[in-house]
Amino acid sequence: MKCAIFASGGGSNFQALIDRKLSGDLHLDFAVCIGNNSSAMAFERARRHAIPTVHMAPSHFPDENAYASNLLKTLADHKVELIVLAGYMKKVPGKILAAFADRVVNIHPALLPAFGGKGLYGEKVHQAVLDYGAKVSGVTVHFVDEEYDHGPIIFQDTVKVLDGDTAATLGKRVLALEHASYWRALEAIASGAIVIRGRTVHGAV
Ligand code: GRF
Repeated sequence: MKCAIFASGGGSNFQALIDRKLSGDLHLDFAVCIGNNSSAMAFERARRHAIPTVHMAPSHFPDENAYASNLLKTLADHKVELIVLAGYMKKVPGKILAAFADRVVNIHPALLPAFGGKGLYGEKVHQAVLDYGAKVSGVTVHFVDEEYDHGPIIFQDTVKVLDGDTAATLGKRVLALEHASYWRALEAIASGAIVIRGRTVHGAV
């Protein structure tokens, strides 16, 4: 299955996926890496592995429709079947979600539906978990729909919140769990092991 990675930042999740592909655990082809930030480390990771990169941001276009049409064309040019968000900081246009229904996946560094939604990203997520006094946090892999951090959940796993945790220390443990988990959810999709009924995802990850 050919996938596009959408990334805006460091791309450590992308790297973990590349590593799983190289080790033979993940059967996805990285057809293209698309991002809004040309200096993103994610692009550098793509280049190191000869994965094509496309720098494309909503601000490059007169309106969302023009942006979405160009994005669709890029995805078609690379024969993309699955879109994998890996630290992508822009909203995916509705036109793309319609064309890729149940084929856009995201990873969120907390247990949705808590501690998600617009504005909750990066260390803000972990700080919100700590401020609330939650005793567990974790990772959620989910399909993407029109609402932030809302689509059907594919996979979740937890980490304990420890006494004395800071957003940085909690975030580090959550990120390690992301790296260990994202590929499993994507492999389940690539191998056809899961089905969606309503908003419930059935099948083994
Ligand atoms: C991760 O925490 C992921 O859950 C969130 O964005 C972060 C991306 O980190 N969506 P990286 O760019 O993969 O290092």
